[in-house]
Amino acid sequence: MSQDAVSDTAERAKFREMKEGTAQDWAIIGGEYMAFAKGLPDRVLDHLRLLDGDFGGFPVDRFEHSLQTATRAHRDGRDEQYVVMALLHDIGDTLGSYNHPEVAASIIKPFVSEEVHWICQNHGHFQGYYYFHFLGMDQNARDQFRDHPYFGACAEFCEKYDQAAFDPDYQSEPLEFFEPMVRRVMTRPLNSLYAKAAEAA
Ligand SMILES: [Fe+2]
Ligand SMILES: [Fe+2]
Repeated sequence: MSQDAVSDTAERAKFREMKEGTAQDWAIIGGEYMAFAKGLPDRVLDHLRLLDGDFGGFPVDRFEHSLQTATRAHRDGRDEQYVVMALLHDIGDTLGSYNHPEVAASIIKPFVSEEVHWICQNHGHFQGYYYFHFLGMDQNARDQFRDHPYFGACAEFCEKYDQAAFDPDYQSEPLEFFEPMVRRVMTRPLNSLYAKAAEAA
């Protein structure tokens, strides 16, 4: 039986408008939500794999770039939150062609520190230091954040790991190496509108 067939026979809420909802309806939805939320790491890992084979003119594809960024961060002694951010920092390339850092930052936001989230959210401006001038853009676009407390941390992420992760000869760890880290970091939301519901489950 397919996944769709299973969910077609599952119990469902009875309301046609949310304002008609009952505790029974929400017990059903709440149960489904928690099961679905537990699958988040798998969905994220599946989505990351979409970058496999996507070169976009770069020397390595976006999947290898992600693995290499994470591997470099890990080998440099960064903690799991940071390494997972490094792994996922370009996951938004598929759906956020014009704002990919924000897509990745939103996905990891419930699970990481403010600093790690900020690095992810703003890495586009900082990465531009290495190429914006070749495209008629402002190489120093990152300077708008010069006085921000995380300026140095974001500049360091791009310098040490992100801009450095295009080497076809580098021996990156495979995705399987990072999977347990992704699962651990995404086990429980630290900050989320729905954190209380997750805690109760
Ligand atoms: Fe990026
Ligand atoms: Fe990148």
